[in-house]
Amino acid sequence: MEQLWIKGERRLQGDAFINGAKNAAVAVIPAAILANDICIIENLPYIDDVISLSEAMNELGVKTEFLDRHTLRIDSRNINNFQAVYESVKKIRASYYLLGALLGRYKQAEVAFPGGCNFGVRPIDQHIKGFEALGAEVIVEHGMIRAKADRLIGTSIYLDVVSVGATINLMLAAVLAEGTTILENAAKEPHVVDTANFLNSMGANIKGAGTDVIRIIGVEKLHGSTYMIIPDQIEAGTLMIAGAITQGDVKVCNIIPKHMESVTAKLQEMGAEVIEGDDFIRVRSTGRLNSIHLKTLPYPGFPTDMQPQMSALLSVAKGTSIITESVWENRFQYMSELKRLGAQVKVEGRVAVVEGVERLSAAEVSALDLRAGAAMVVAALAAQGESKITNVQYIDRGYEELEVKLRSLGADIRRVQVSSEKKVPRQRILEPVLEKKII
Ligand code: UD1
Repeated sequence: MEQLWIKGERRLQGDAFINGAKNAAVAVIPAAILANDICIIENLPYIDDVISLSEAMNELGVKTEFLDRHTLRIDSRNINNFQAVYESVKKIRASYYLLGALLGRYKQAEVAFPGGCNFGVRPIDQHIKGFEALGAEVIVEHGMIRAKADRLIGTSIYLDVVSVGATINLMLAAVLAEGTTILENAAKEPHVVDTANFLNSMGANIKGAGTDVIRIIGVEKLHGSTYMIIPDQIEAGTLMIAGAITQGDVKVCNIIPKHMESVTAKLQEMGAEVIEGDDFIRVRSTGRLNSIHLKTLPYPGFPTDMQPQMSALLSVAKGTSIITESVWENRFQYMSELKRLGAQVKVEGRVAVVEGVERLSAAEVSALDLRAGAAMVVAALAAQGESKITNVQYIDRGYEELEVKLRSLGADIRRVQVSSEKKVPRQRILEPVLEKKII
């Protein structure tokens, strides 16, 4: 088992280069199934979710191959299996995209109920409602979701909740359907737009992605494409907050500043200095920041995936902050861990009241899920003494070498193997492929 050991109170300073977006990657990779051709996806983050998903694709008969650490070649010409079993998808929430992609291309799919982070009930009723509206029959039994259709026919679908997953999944299912599909009340997240752009690069006809009405005119077939995915707004936001909480000076590079607007606005409201360039944002702070009130919302609102990291920052702000989580019903579980680091927090349903303290103090804390884990890292960077973060595998799901990036900014952080149970180093998974390429 691995842990992250962090000696806090080091001021972070310097440039951090942001990898491709996890949530775009996990949609774009299955989307390549629709091509019946070869796709090359560039700027992928080398994280466990991407590796697990490409392995799950291989089980379907897709051939995935890392050409280098961040580039995946996906050959979807020989798919021979439409079933993704629990064993291969249990770790990835976004495995439900295999459903939309397989259904779209083969009119049949069978995928185990997804795993991923646990912060309350994570229904997929809107995905199912949309598949059915397109003409599929969907049955959920024995932990599997089975979808089948003779034909998929475009139609108008109104999503009852703004759902990133349902919006993307229905785009995947509709691109090869007959006629026009209109998705209303669609999610507007950058990774929704990125997935639409990728599909269009393969010959799809999708308009309106990034607004709440998306129009998909079905085409007969798609072709292969080389596509570079967008930078990760959540990784960027996490490192911006790491800079702010250590009263440092951190420049996150290789990003799209527009995607960061809600985070930038909140940091400014707290009193941090934020300098924006074409493809970077620099965050400087020289003292304790001020408390704020915060509510998570679908894009362009403040992202729920930044809520835990922001709570860590607010736990050392001057004054009382009120945080309202409006996307997930149970996303404050990690507060128990934050309290172990000395934060003063009261949670009542979807609202957390954070009384800022002058200083956090190191403790052993658990990464309860991916972003909760990131929040523990951020908090530990500011805490007095050495913190130990367990369950690092959650952090590895979504951050590529977070500790390496933080170390290069001046953090005292190391990954420590704490028992004889050894994890296969992630680089090794790549070696055979790289060797093959060199030969
Ligand atoms: C995606 C992100 C996740 C992020 C979330 C919200 C990926 C892989 N994951 O998750 O990191 O926290 O968006 O920004 O991109 N809902 C329903 N019925 C449905 C689907 C969703 O009621 O069929 C509800 C959910 O319970 C939740 C809200 O809609 O309250 C938003 O969920 P959704 O946007 O679908 O989240 P994911 O796509 O799973």
